[in-house]
Amino acid sequence: MKAIIITQPGDPEVLKPEERPTPIPSPGEVLIKVSAAGLNRLDIYQRKGNYPAPQGAPQDIPGLEVAGVISATGENVERWKVGDKVCALIAGGGYAEYCVVPEGQCLPVPDGFTFEEAASLPETYFTIWYNVYRLGKLKAGESLLVHGGSSGIGISAIHIATALGSNVYITAGTDEKCAFCLEQGAAGAINYNTEDFTEKIKSFTGGRGVDVILDMIGAKYFPGNIASLADDGRLVFINTMQGREAQVDLSVIMRRRLTITGSTMRSREPEFKSQLAYEVEQNIWPLLNARKIKPVIHRVFDAADAAEAHKLMESSTHSGKIILRFQAT
Ligand SMILES: NC(=O)c1ccc[n+]([C@@H]2O[C@H](COP(=O)([O-])OP(=O)(O)OC[C@H]3O[C@@H](n4cnc5c(N)ncnc54)[C@H](OP(=O)(O)O)[C@@H]3O)[C@@H](O)[C@H]2O)c1
Repeated sequence: MKAIIITQPGDPEVLKPEERPTPIPSPGEVLIKVSAAGLNRLDIYQRKGNYPAPQGAPQDIPGLEVAGVISATGENVERWKVGDKVCALIAGGGYAEYCVVPEGQCLPVPDGFTFEEAASLPETYFTIWYNVYRLGKLKAGESLLVHGGSSGIGISAIHIATALGSNVYITAGTDEKCAFCLEQGAAGAINYNTEDFTEKIKSFTGGRGVDVILDMIGAKYFPGNIASLADDGRLVFINTMQGREAQVDLSVIMRRRLTITGSTMRSREPEFKSQLAYEVEQNIWPLLNARKIKPVIHRVFDAADAAEAHKLMESSTHSGKIILRFQAT
């Protein structure tokens, strides 16, 4: 099979198509003939050599989410059969014509979705479900602030949390990105280059603050995040793009009953991811099947142009997801 390989750590040009053996599914796994793979910021960290794949996943083939057709099943696979159209969260190896994945990490392609649309879903949807709903315990009627609102994660968070009954506020780096997030359903958008997000959140919420914050920025935003939480608020980290070490007045955490938490998805075990897949299918797939949520695909590249796709993501000029196409849908 053809795969896009990280030939050595470095710039986007290190990504090159090469021939690799087609993987064989182990018991409980399926082989997917990949039509489309989603790009994620973590693929860039892996390409640069800063984020090794977990044990068992290909080290030199990036890719955390795919959509395609099941072309073989391992022993004891119960739900899927050859020919089924699925999308899947994988631990690595998605930039390839074929990949293997535990069957529990597959979900059906939502009704009427292209493979490119379906490939845009797993990484952001699993991440948001776990961090915003399981760890952050966001409930209908509560409010959410998402930093990086125009990222793949940000747009999905706007869609999901709005559809499930929350007001979603976002930060982004340009007025255009803010306007785009408002079009996607955000209740308020803050250009962090020209506005103070803490002040704006106070004004959006009548001084109360938000119930949950999903943050990928880290230390730089930590004081502003604490000040932007309502009493009993929850701050959930999914990255620390601008600093890992922060100081906090612990008495504020106690007095205002705040929760600070976070997680990383990739290294979690298949049983955990399969449980999340079940919850995502129960809670969010009906919204996709009813077309109440439609993913935003910023641009689709042929897989051979993976380096160009990485350059676009690194430019941070995109809004929504970037996709690699392996075969015509
Ligand atoms: N923990 C987990 O399990 C998990 C899972 C998936 C993703 N993530 C994290 O979630 C974040 C979003 O992922 P994604 O794939 O949706 O990425 P993405 O589409 O590339 O979005 C990242 C956005 O962050 C903003 N940003 C702010 N400061 C930045 C900086 N110093 N460097 C780069 N971008 C910066 C940019 O928007 P502006 O131009 O508006 O600032 C950019 O569009 C990433 O940090 C990723 O690592 C974590």
